[in-house]
Order: sequence, then structure tokens, then C-alpha cells
Amino acid sequence: MRKHISASIWPETKNDAARQLSELHVSSRGQRRSRRARRGSAVFTSRSLNDRILCFEFERQLLTQLGDSVEVVDSTAGFRYFDVRDLLGFVDGTANPVGADIEDAVLITSNDAGEAGAAAVGGGYIVVQKYLHDLSAWNKLSTETQERIVGRTKFDNVELDDAGEEEQKPHKQLATIEKDGVEYDIVRDNMPFGNAGQGEFGTYFIGYSKSLWIVEEMLRRMFVGVPEGRHDRILDYSRAVTGVYFAPGFGCASGFGDGD
Ligand code: HEM
Repeated sequence: MRKHISASIWPETKNDAARQLSELHVSSRGQRRSRRARRGSAVFTSRSLNDRILCFEFERQLLTQLGDSVEVVDSTAGFRYFDVRDLLGFVDGTANPVGADIEDAVLITSNDAGEAGAAAVGGGYIVVQKYLHDLSAWNKLSTETQERIVGRTKFDNVELDDAGEEEQKPHKQLATIEKDGVEYDIVRDNMPFGNAGQGEFGTYFIGYSKSLWIVEEMLRRMFVGVPEGRHDRILDYSRAVTGVYFAPGFGCASGFGDGD
């Protein structure tokens, strides 16, 4: 059985790309380790590495204008950790596309119009999910075991060889999507967050993509596993505390206010 997890507002638009948000699925097996998204939600990410005050002011003004039309279900302040590492201690974001490949990965072009609709050209999707880490359990693992789980060395961030067909695959291999010899990337901008005093340590996953199926396939491979049952071991130490939230970017949201 598969469940729809999407914001109910998007299908109301006339915009095909936004309507696709109602079609993003995660299999119910995957949901065992995850929690379902609430319907009717919207995502805002604001960031300024150097100026927390600007983020605060932006959020204050935005929420003042939106008033009672929105309910804030989560507000998480992330930060950049040493060497762009996550709180598991690994450099996060290395395999992101660079240069012109960034736009290729995130912006819907007229070639994708069949999938997303002409109004979506120039836009893209933002996908977020909040994870909490069991750092005391993670830190009991040897560095070698942690490296096998992630698929990279911890200190110098060197990529390890892929696991064989039937073997337990590392996170980086499960999250790599290949179809007909083409690799499909997303751009990730994960933010660590935490509160040492309260023992809270997490990663706020933030992904940008021009196609939702790519993210859906990454999540399926991580949560269900390849082969099935060999799920991503990062999830044994990282619990998804929200469902997956999606928002269309500029172009995608353009259908609002067009009627219906
Ligand atoms: C607990 C949450 C997560 C943590 C701590 C985490 C951490 C990492 C780390 C350390 C890497 C290796 C370095 C790099 O290339 O960035 C990585 C790679 C990657 N992750 Fe995650 N990740 C998390 C969740 C996710 C999710 C939910 C997705 C997708 C839906 C994802 C997609 C990817 C992709 C596509 C790669 C690059 C694979 C490659 O081509 O080498 N990650 N992640």
C-alpha cells in the first residue's frame, strides 16, 4: 500500500508542477521509520549564515502578513558545523552538483514541461525532512563501522568503493539514482541543529530538485532498502521526526490566484 503525503493546498492550483505534489509517495514500509506529513502545510526556509537577526526579521514579517492563514508546525534554527560536517561527524554535501550542473539538477526547463507543465519552467521543488540522531549510540560505533554506513571516510572524506549487489549498501550508494546509464542528482543543503543541554542532535534535510521522482526514489531506496530489507543503516541512528514536506519554488507556485 502506498500513501499520499503532500500538502493539500497544492492540487488546488492550476499549475501542473504544484499538482504533482499530491502524487509524491513513500511506501508504507518506509513509513515505519518515518512519520507522515500533515496535510495543508507549507515550507519556508530562510537562511543567512552570518546574520541570524535577518532570518528572525524575515520570519517575523512573513508570519505577520500570513496571520491566521498558516499554522507553524515546526521552527528549527540550523547552523554550519565544522568543515560543513553533520552532527554524525561526516562532511555533508560533497557529492552535490557544481557549476552549471546545479541548474540542471534543480530548475525545471521547457524540456521538462511535459512532466511539470509550462508554468513551472524556471521553478523547482524544495523537499525537507527533520531527523534526530541517537548520538550516544552512533558514537559507540567504531569509526570504520560509521564509514561503512555512510560510504566515505570520516576525517578526510574519501569515497569508499560501492558494496556488491547483495551486500549492505552505504548511504551514499543508496542515495545515488541511476537510470539508463544517467545519474540523477539533487542539490542538498542539510543543516545540523541541536541543543546540547537537552540532548537534541539532528540534521534538517533540505533538498532541491526539478523532479520529485528522484527524491522519492532516494527515500524508497533508503527506507525500504536495496535489496528490500537492507535499509540505510544511517536510519538506525537517525529518526525522521517529521514527514517529508514539499514546496514548489518560484515558477511552480505561479498558479495561485488564477481561480478554481
Ligand atoms: C539523517 C539524515 C542524513 C544525513 C546525516 C546525511 C548525510 C550524508 C552524508 C554525510 C553524505 C556523504 C557526503 C556527500 O556527498 O554529501 C550524504 C550523501 C548523500 N545523501 Fe544524505 N544524509 C541524510 C539524509 C538524506 C536524505 C533524506 C536524502 C535524499 C532524500 C539524502 C541524499 C543524499 C545524496 C543524493 C547523497 C550523495 C550520494 C552520492 O552521489 O555520493 N540524504 N548524505
